[in-house]
Amino acid sequence: CRVAAMGDDARRFYGVQFHVEVTHTPHGRQILSNFVHDICGCGQEWSAGERVATLEEQVRRASRNRRVFFFVSGGVDSTVAFTLATRALGRERVHGAYIDTGFMRQGETQEIAAAFRGLGYDLEVVDASDQFFKALDGVAEPEAKRQIIGDMFIAVQDQAIARLGWGDDWVLGQGTIYPDTIESGGTKSSAKIKTHHNRVGKVEEMIRAGRVLEPISELYKDEVREVGRKLELPKELIERHPFPGPGLAIRCLCCQAEGIAEAIPPIQGYAAVRLPLRSVGVQGDFRSYAHPTLLWGGLRTHGMLSEVSSLITNTQRESNRVTYLLGCRVHQASRVWRAHPALLTRERITVLQEADGRVRQWLRDENLTAAVWQFPVVLLPLAADQSAGETIVLRPVESEDGMTAHVAPLDFAALDRLTARLMELPALDAVLLDISHKPPATIEWE
Ligand code: XMP
Repeated sequence: CRVAAMGDDARRFYGVQFHVEVTHTPHGRQILSNFVHDICGCGQEWSAGERVATLEEQVRRASRNRRVFFFVSGGVDSTVAFTLATRALGRERVHGAYIDTGFMRQGETQEIAAAFRGLGYDLEVVDASDQFFKALDGVAEPEAKRQIIGDMFIAVQDQAIARLGWGDDWVLGQGTIYPDTIESGGTKSSAKIKTHHNRVGKVEEMIRAGRVLEPISELYKDEVREVGRKLELPKELIERHPFPGPGLAIRCLCCQAEGIAEAIPPIQGYAAVRLPLRSVGVQGDFRSYAHPTLLWGGLRTHGMLSEVSSLITNTQRESNRVTYLLGCRVHQASRVWRAHPALLTRERITVLQEADGRVRQWLRDENLTAAVWQFPVVLLPLAADQSAGETIVLRPVESEDGMTAHVAPLDFAALDRLTARLMELPALDAVLLDISHKPPATIEWE
């Protein structure tokens, strides 16, 4: 743009047109710091060292002697929030419940229950998977899925409170972090990108009634991890890749009508089609729901793929995401990319769990777990011919806070080994690599 930043030194007015707060802006923190400290003259009155004590004090004040019912997912956010609340209020007043929604990863429920037992917490494990699958029966639209999942958490909470016999004297504890609030349209100047499970209507009502306790709602992910380290939580819990509250339900794409991919002109040596499915993205600060592009052939380097991915999303607004073909069961000459009706079923989630489990095992085998910030594995109801085959998308990203992300440039030879392991699964027709940054794509596909 013509004016990216401007200032009037005499009147001390300054403005920028870009996002200084995102981690991919070079010197962004310095710009913010200059503004806050040098221009506005604010001091720095807190330090990370005092943070735990401050957060605990806030918990004590906000809870006003009431008991706390906490949903714990095993992710770093809810673990840190739950630990802060327990330290501040004592174990007798904080109840932790882990909900098995049916959308957890392979073996995850057992792993998390064991990790919490190791910390000396007696976590209640609730198998609510039947209820979740039933409530989502027939639902394909991403925001509808999110709403239903959020409402189901509240229904499960009500059932648990009734079992505990707590009456009305309690609050709901959540591990909401700052980006969840922004992306749910919860700040004055943010558009709704998606509804987080901890920001559905019923939770909003409870917030207005002062019945929600969110100890880390003003922190970003990297800050949450730092607090977790101060709390001396085990590394396995702090360094876990982020996993969304709605779990695999937002990584299992649903589709209600059949559709065939549309061929588009080749671009920079890559053959291309526009996929007959839609995924969520974030373009110009707003949510988009658009068709991903699929490329194959051409040069297999991250530099070139990144360039062509940006070129496509910048010039073809109807596409918010670009993928690259890593492997396919069907020979190119007889390939027809076809989306087919498919919903959230136990069978499909099992396929996704198996694929996700193989990806995590491969990350460990290749010593790559720490090389990525997060690695969603997504299931698409996309066949490469007339079959009911499905497609897996790999989404390895580098990020600091999830607000922006880059593709993690994993070695293609290693990705080929992973593709071979995935293609052993009989339900799968193809494996794709998501080569889009956020923005314009989001990390999850929904
Ligand atoms: P997107 O897809 O918006 O995701 O780029 C940004 C980060 O947020 C995580 N995410 C969630 N986390 N509840 C959560 O606790 C949710 O509903 C939710 N949705 C997305 C996502 O995994 C990524 O790390």
